Amino acid sequence: MSNITQAGSFLLGTRSVNRMGYGAMQLAGPGVFGPPKDPGAAIAVLREALAAGVNHIDTADFYGPHVTNRLIREALHPYPSDLVIVTKVGAARGHDASWNPAQSPAELTQAVHDNLRNLQLDVLEVVNFRAMGDVQSPTEGSIEEQISVLAELQQQGLIRHLGLSNVTQTQVRQAQKIARIVCVQNHYNLSHRQDESLIADLGRQGIAYVPFFPMGGFTPLQSQTLSDVAKRLDALPMHVALAWLLQRAPNILLIPGTSSVEHLRENLAASELVIDRDLLTELEAA
Ligand SMILES: NC(=O)c1ccc[n+]([C@@H]2O[C@H](COP(=O)([O-])OP(=O)(O)OC[C@H]3O[C@@H](n4cnc5c(N)ncnc54)[C@H](OP(=O)(O)O)[C@@H]3O)[C@@H](O)[C@H]2O)c1
Repeated sequence: MSNITQAGSFLLGTRSVNRMGYGAMQLAGPGVFGPPKDPGAAIAVLREALAAGVNHIDTADFYGPHVTNRLIREALHPYPSDLVIVTKVGAARGHDASWNPAQSPAELTQAVHDNLRNLQLDVLEVVNFRAMGDVQSPTEGSIEEQISVLAELQQQGLIRHLGLSNVTQTQVRQAQKIARIVCVQNHYNLSHRQDESLIADLGRQGIAYVPFFPMGGFTPLQSQTLSDVAKRLDALPMHVALAWLLQRAPNILLIPGTSSVEHLRENLAASELVIDRDLLTELEAA
């Protein structure tokens, strides 16, 4: 079993988590809709992640919908005291599996209660507000009303910490005027690096940056350079993609997703991979 503590830890809100975590989205059925073909396999992935030392899991009640959270509950409840489950609100699924905004005060409140019920928790440790200006990439626009609603639910004791997802730097600053923000989850990986200055800015403030699609998501990262560098390190391309993120900035926390125990083990092994400066330069130039 890999030693994931090699990747270090970081303070997420008020809890220290291993920088190598796990993203649960792939546990739902095809297209993140409906149940998985083999729920037992999904439960095995979650239990294996915890056995390997993962103590940061990313989820959302709109994965499935409800499926991923219920699998997490079935596999892991009662939760170990060091486990931080981060969820997100702001979207809902249509009957056609579409991803739609659900950001009115009533919808956000309902989403928090759905997460509490499906995860069987009294308090959600971290809730990310998922902006939906554009489903795939951040778009400017006020998120003040939504953050105020979540800050109110935080004051009621239903949420411990707030985070943001799919947001711009301006939206981060806007949210910070209303509430403390402990993490930002945006699309970022070796071939998608729009957030360089945001990552640095958050790092200076001790705020975690959690890239989604760290291995390319639905379109796995592939390039000749990635394969060549992996070969020279006697590693897999996915190891290199994840290890590059770990070395990119100390406030980056990883939540690679997989529905397979075998891939989970491969991904966790990236915690032990060190890429030297020359190879990093080569990767970044590609
Ligand atoms: N905030 C947001 O808007 C947002 C959006 C997307 C995702 N997320 C979160 O971010 C997490 C990570 O993103 P993601 O899961 O979409 O993408 P990802 O981690 O970049 O990649 C997952 C994909 O790579 C495959 N894979 C995983 N390990 C592999 C390996 N070792 N070898 C070959 N293929 C491998 C998976 O298939 P297998 O299942 O076959 O392994 C899956 O298709 C999600 O689980 C979710 O929690 C958040």
